[in-house]
Amino acid sequence: VTIYRKDYVAPGFWVDTVEMGFDLHPQRTHVATRITMRRNHDSAEKDLVLFGEDIKLLQLRMNGVNLKKNAYTLTKERLVISSAPDQVMLEIETAIAADKNTTMSGLYVSNGNFFTQCEAEGFRKITFFPDRPDVMASYTVMLRGDKKLYPVLLSNGNLIEQGDLGDGRHYAKWEDPFKKPSYLFALVAGKLVCQEEKYKLKSGRKVLLQVWVEQGNLDKTQHAMDSLKNSIRWDEERFGLELDLDRFMIVATSDFNMGAMENKGLNIFNTKYVLANSRVATDADYAGIESVVGHEYFHNWTGNRVTCRDWFQLSLKEGLTVFRDQEFSGDLVGNETGRAVKRIEDVRVLRQLQFSEDAGPMAHPVRPDSFVEINNFYTVTVYEKGSEVVRMYYTLLGHEGFRKGMDLYFQRHDGQAVTCDDFRAAMADANGRDLKQFERWYSQAGTPRLKAQTSYDAISKTYTLSLSQSCPKTAGQAKKLPFHIPVAVGLIDAEGKDVALQLLGESATSTTQILELKEAQQNFVFTNSDREVTPSILRNFSAPVILEFDYSDEQLAHLLAHDSDPFCRWEAGQRLAMRRLLKLVKAVQQGDTLSLDDLFINALRKTLIDQNLDPAFRELVLTLPSEVMIAEEMAIADPHSIHIARQFVRATLAQHLKADLLKAYQDNLTPGKYSPDAQSAGKRALKNCALAYLVEWPDAATYALAHTQYQEAENMTDRIAALSAMLHCSSALDKAYSKTRKQVLAHFYKEFESEALVIDKWFTLQATAPTADVEQVRALMQHKAFSMSNPNRARSLIFAFCNANPARFHAADGSGYGLWADCVIALNKLNPQVAARLSRSMDRWTKLPKANKALMKAALQRVAATKNLSKDVSEVVTKALAA
Ligand code: ARG
Ligand code: ZN
Repeated sequence: VTIYRKDYVAPGFWVDTVEMGFDLHPQRTHVATRITMRRNHDSAEKDLVLFGEDIKLLQLRMNGVNLKKNAYTLTKERLVISSAPDQVMLEIETAIAADKNTTMSGLYVSNGNFFTQCEAEGFRKITFFPDRPDVMASYTVMLRGDKKLYPVLLSNGNLIEQGDLGDGRHYAKWEDPFKKPSYLFALVAGKLVCQEEKYKLKSGRKVLLQVWVEQGNLDKTQHAMDSLKNSIRWDEERFGLELDLDRFMIVATSDFNMGAMENKGLNIFNTKYVLANSRVATDADYAGIESVVGHEYFHNWTGNRVTCRDWFQLSLKEGLTVFRDQEFSGDLVGNETGRAVKRIEDVRVLRQLQFSEDAGPMAHPVRPDSFVEINNFYTVTVYEKGSEVVRMYYTLLGHEGFRKGMDLYFQRHDGQAVTCDDFRAAMADANGRDLKQFERWYSQAGTPRLKAQTSYDAISKTYTLSLSQSCPKTAGQAKKLPFHIPVAVGLIDAEGKDVALQLLGESATSTTQILELKEAQQNFVFTNSDREVTPSILRNFSAPVILEFDYSDEQLAHLLAHDSDPFCRWEAGQRLAMRRLLKLVKAVQQGDTLSLDDLFINALRKTLIDQNLDPAFRELVLTLPSEVMIAEEMAIADPHSIHIARQFVRATLAQHLKADLLKAYQDNLTPGKYSPDAQSAGKRALKNCALAYLVEWPDAATYALAHTQYQEAENMTDRIAALSAMLHCSSALDKAYSKTRKQVLAHFYKEFESEALVIDKWFTLQATAPTADVEQVRALMQHKAFSMSNPNRARSLIFAFCNANPARFHAADGSGYGLWADCVIALNKLNPQVAARLSRSMDRWTKLPKANKALMKAALQRVAATKNLSKDVSEVVTKALAA
């Protein structure tokens, strides 16, 4: 069944209080719930509707009276009481087999401990409830369980009572002082230990901060704790938002469907986003932890205090909170280049993942109009494009204006469940702006194309930038209306300096102007231009669009050498590279000889050796567009030719830049104690990028360099980079090194056998190697450390192969698709959410060459015909097959 946004109806009943008692037992947890409700006279819904799934109803009393079977209707998903009075007290008893719950939604067991995940609709797997985000209530929770098995009992809010029950069991009573929707409910029970600290807020109030992990992991919690303290301080300083609780807890579990969850006062995290020390975690892991800890913490205001009216509004909290976590990480670096590096990394994710989502069968607006399964809409569009939409307010309204809008948003809506329109209204009203047309960013799917043309008039000394926009059609949306697009532009003169820009009829000058494109086509005339200049368009990536401008190679090299805007500077290098890659793919397909020109090689050399540029920035420029990005630029994409073309560019660059790469390697060593700060991480990134290039044009010395780095590495960043260089270079195809590679892989496994997150890396390295094939992946699935039911492990091997090794996944015999189908079908039984994510690996199937397409379609059809297919998987494959 498809649910539509237009069908929203307010709940028939509001809930004031919820009291819950849990008797924790893995096979049969008993839950008693008392709910006080009152009729919402403004609602068209007259029945009392409760949702419930996969739970056993033991008792149901209304206002003290046991309800007979004929007093309500109970279906697979709902319990409906049709003649309820206006004031209702419901008492419900349910039983849950948490140990059998492999879906990791609702109440489940991981390594003997209990966890919950209630967003989006998991609370209905705990008790019958109006499980929708616009029903906000006060919760009191009593947890009872065996003292030895479950010494720690946690839930939302404050611990108000705890004690012994005499029979080897104990209890803890928790009270959440804030009203919340049911999706923010959480409990954790089990054998856990914590790092804790009293932290003083700006106001002087002291709060208790805790990071809970399994025994043996307390040497990996410091970075999460530091990130939490940084988050608390940042939200106070940047947005004036204070932590509203006396206690804030983070709990890590190795069994988790997503990254983390913002349950009020009790954030539950995938271990991947908590545990780190230099031995086991990379710079990227450290950065991921900082941003996810920030993200979940920031939800306390953007998500929890102000929540979503319905799930179509998901981006209200997610887009905004991603924007906040991106800004947080950018601000923490503390300098402009660092901020730009972070921005470029975020844009790269958006373009690689969201642009392709927007062009595929699952394309949907930031605020979707319909869904079959809401869990399928926790997407890069809702999150990352949603964040870009919030960033456009920031660009249009400025730093102060955006803050005013945020302040008004909280002033109006604290404690409410609201919509994306409410957020837009707050931004507009606080700034006296008309943002009506801006709504189209929420309602229209697809990535807009922005076309630019320029002309210079020597007589009037004016420079005209002509901008036009269009948006490709997407499922259900044939015609698109123009968007309100902020286009940040600058002009660079022949010396590489920014020109002071003055728009015709305006007096202000500045080197960057924010143009507002609102029509299908508009001209912008600059008056004070007196010579030919190079336009720098879409600075800092001011809108999530595809810019089309006919740059010459010389102009791109000029921008790469001089643009004051780091994003456009980086982008110029990417354009130079993409142009060559696309030509080379054609050459590969036609069997022509491959070659690379000096202009490109020299432009990259200049960047590589430029000591004035941050190492982190140089690494970004040196990194070629990914195979996935190249495929997106082609009408019919053949992964094998793409791989060969890209490898050719890497090897050729390695050959020509060998001395400079070696120097960059030596110049960017980071001896001494490991620190994950951006400066050191940037040096490691450039050094390891140089290493990866060096082994592409190998001799015994460069290969030994990698091997030595592996053996002597004092942190995981350097260790895994060396291992990856050895496994992923084309020369890895060379038999000469196959023995060393085997030895090193075996050594790595032994060294880190007890570190699950490192073993995930071990699987991923093998799944993404150019030598990997389906047979090898199947063999790794038989490895004693592999488990399909652990999401991290499944992702580390199967998702990595299907999504990050296109040349091998798309093997001509279709064996990759066979593996994909087998795994989707196996996961569908265990964990529909994870299965649906894997289903998305076929999103772009219509872009493949004919022979692949036929095999992919057959694999999709096989999955679609599977018995007991979950809503989750069914929605994805049905939409894919309709493409
Ligand atoms: N709200 C969480 C976050 O963005 C994500 C939880 C999504 N979970 C799910 N099952 N769909 O941090
Ligand atoms: Zn979130």
